[in-house]
Formats: sequence, C-alpha cells, structure tokens
Amino acid sequence: MSRVLDDAVRASLDAAVRLLQAGELVAFPTETVYGLGANAANPEAVAKIFAAKGRPADHPVIVHLPGAAHIERWAVDIPQTAWDLAEAFWPGPLTLILKRAPATPLAVTGGQETVGLRAPAHPLALALLRAYAQAGGGRQGMCGIAAPSANRFGRISPTDAAHVREELGDAVSLVLDGGACDVGIESTIIDLSNLDVPPRILRPGHITPGQIAAVIGLMPAMPGQAQPTGSPRVPGALAAHYAPRTPVRVVAAAVLAETLAALHHTGQSAALIAHSSSAASLPARSWCLLPDEAEGFARGLYAALRTADRGGCDVIVVEAVPDRPEWAAVADRICRAAAGAGGTHQ
Ligand code: TXA
Ligand code: MG
Repeated sequence: MSRVLDDAVRASLDAAVRLLQAGELVAFPTETVYGLGANAANPEAVAKIFAAKGRPADHPVIVHLPGAAHIERWAVDIPQTAWDLAEAFWPGPLTLILKRAPATPLAVTGGQETVGLRAPAHPLALALLRAYAQAGGGRQGMCGIAAPSANRFGRISPTDAAHVREELGDAVSLVLDGGACDVGIESTIIDLSNLDVPPRILRPGHITPGQIAAVIGLMPAMPGQAQPTGSPRVPGALAAHYAPRTPVRVVAAAVLAETLAALHHTGQSAALIAHSSSAASLPARSWCLLPDEAEGFARGLYAALRTADRGGCDVIVVEAVPDRPEWAAVADRICRAAAGAGGTHQ
C-alpha cells in the first residue's frame, strides 16, 4: 500500500473513531459481511443501530473486540473452552455467547443475560478496533463496537461497501470501504453461556462443528437439537431471514431443468443461481454460476442474490447444495432466503 493510501486510510480510521466516540454509526468491513457499528458501551448509540436497520429492540447485537484480552470487560464466568476457541479462531469468523458482565449494557444483549463477542479478521476492522482502543474506546476503557450486519432488518447481509450504501443510505455517517468480504456469510455462533450443558452452535458458519470439536474435545450440539431451558434467544435465526424481495426456490440439481422449463412454459421469468457447470445451458432469464465448492459459493452467494433480486424476475431459482458438512452453513442461508415471501424449498 502506498504512503498516500496509508494516510487516506489513517484519516478515515481517525474519522471513524471520532464518530463512534460521538455516538454515531460507522459501517465497516469484516471478513464475513459488513457491520453497522456503534459504541457498544453507549445505549443511545446502540439504539441508533436499531433505528437505522428497522430492527426490533429485543434483538441482541454482537460486540466486536480487538482481541481476547478484552473478553473479561464484557463477560463473566468464562469457561476454558471460550479461551481455547478464541485462541484458535480469533481474529476470525466465530462469535462466542457468554454470560454478560454487569458493565455490558442490556441494549446490546437485547435484554438478555448473555453477550455475543467476536474479534473480526478483516485488516480494516482490526485497525479500526485497535485505533478505537488506543483512543480510549467508548467508556471506562470499554472498547467494543456493537455491530449487526449492515442491512435493513430481514434482508440480505451486505458483502461490499456499495451494498451498505444501497441498504442504509444516509442513515450511516461513514462507510469504511474494505472491498468485497472474503468469507461472505455471517460468523459461526456458539453458545458457551451455560456451564452445565455442552456448547451449542446457534448459527452455522465458516468455522465448522468439526473444527470446534478439534479444539474443545467434544462435538457441539447443533441448532435443531432440543434446547435446555434458559437458552439464549437467537432472533437472527428466524426462519425467514437473509431474504431477497423476489421469491426464492431451492431446487435439487436433478429437477433443475424440468423446473426451469415449467416456469418458462407458464411465462414466469427465472434468475438462476447454480454451482453445477451444466446449469449454464438451462432456460433462465439470467444466470449466476458460483464456484462448485462451499467456500467460493459462500463468498459469492449474497452478491448473487442481490443482483438476481434487482433483475426483476418472477422467481430466483437456487440450485440445492450438496448435503455435506462443509456446505451446511450455505445450505442454512439459502434455506432462510427461501423462507421469505413466496419462497419454497424442494
Ligand atoms: O459475521 C457476523 O457475525 C456479522 C459481522 C458484522 O460480525 N454480524 C452479524 O450480526 O451477523 P447480526 O446481528 O446480523 O447477527 C448476530 C446474531 C443474531 O442472530 C443475534 O440474535 C445473535 O447473533 N446474537 C448476538 N448476541 C447474542 C446473544 N447474547 N445471545 C444470543 N444470540 C445473540
Ligand atoms: Mg444480520
């Protein structure tokens, strides 16, 4: 990076820190998706996130930290597994749900006694968090940035700066532009807040249960499994989430051709998002062929859904992904996209 660019980045980071300290909103890139950030120690600043997103106030937001050294300011009763997971995967796409410390405002926890913490790996996010910490953070050395994904409530998470402006416009004071996000879907969330039960995955993501098991020595419970009473609510895991306006149909590869033909015959236009190369010859108004491997597919999925949504088709057809562990997080997101208005999963 040239010196001139360095100065420009430094100036925008300084501006971002000043805005955060003044209680304003700053959108920033993470390796997963763009976040809409506010001083996590200031309930009025956090309230602006909810207003900008149109999100219900009882939804908790993740607090982003510069690193594991900050966990104890925000959480108490921290199990060894939390330290081990932070050591293994931070900075990175893993959110730890822990018991809230008294100083952690209920505004970020959605009124719950748990808090979600993560140190993101994007260099600009880390630079922002470090600059914020160096400037003294928000209040009494609490240098956490509360940030949900920078989209309107229930819509597709943004994976580049232009998506954020499209979603939130003037509601955000500054958008730090760090280019396209590398991971492309939101972090894995694991609940470690109840010491009496095994860790539980609340939202699948790039870090897989197998990778987690390799660190903590046991397989975490999965979202579908029966939950102990008192488990944290995960409102972001609502069935219809991450949804475009156009209905989404998830269609198995084996019936893709006949589904598209049937749509065509009934005069319905389809935008196709697929991963099998054979899909390029199918009758659709538009095609997006994503990589035939889980990481590449995840990286491109949200931008593909956004483009398809803008195209004015009657339906977005997404080719179902393989039923294998490495595809689980992607399968979760396309299933939620299909749970929006008029979508189906077949
Ligand atoms: O990758 C990500 O996690 C992105 C980037 C910006 O870090 N953030 C993100 O935030 O996806 P959001 O707010 O869109 O989704 C956060 C999820 C929500 O489902 C929320 O309910 C859950 O995390 N969550 C946050 N704090 C929680 C808590 N204390 N207990 C249970 N769930 C929590
Ligand atoms: Mg979100």
